[in-house]
Amino acid sequence: MKNLMIIAAVAALASQLAMAPVGAAETEKVFKFYCAQCHGLTGKGDGPNVTKDFPVSPRNFTNAKEMNKLSDADLKNVIMDGGPSVSKSPMMPPWGKTLNAEEVDGLIKHLRVLCKCKGKQG
Ligand code: HEC
Repeated sequence: MKNLMIIAAVAALASQLAMAPVGAAETEKVFKFYCAQCHGLTGKGDGPNVTKDFPVSPRNFTNAKEMNKLSDADLKNVIMDGGPSVSKSPMMPPWGKTLNAEEVDGLIKHLRVLCKCKGKQG
């Protein structure tokens, strides 16, 4: 009986670890690798990939006014499914097949740090 309880405790701990959110340092790497070339290292929408003939500028994540129009769920949708899924430009690629849910959640938190805003609630 005692052994069973230990096994249960270890299993519970392991599942908690598996669900642990991606840390801030890890998220920054993900952001630098996948997002910064367009959105810029500091999120101002001025990444090296962006040229004058981009039909639309990548979102400036430091613009709290614009970022507050989007809820966390909105951010998740556009990150997972790309610009066209929310009637925005296909220049914003879908990441749902590249990034896992924890990475996307980490990115959403990172964007909220960049905009210093909480976003639309609900
Ligand atoms: C190839 C360039 C490119 C890359 C790489 C890119 N984006 Fe974008 N992103 C854009 C563009 C362009 C827009 C603006 C789309 C529009 O306004 O129509 C955009 C818009 C957004 C928006 C705002 C959507 C809205 O409703 O206003 C979010 C959030 C976003 N990107 C997150 C990310 C994240 C997170 C990553 C990295 C995983 C990323 N993007 C990588 C180009 C890019």
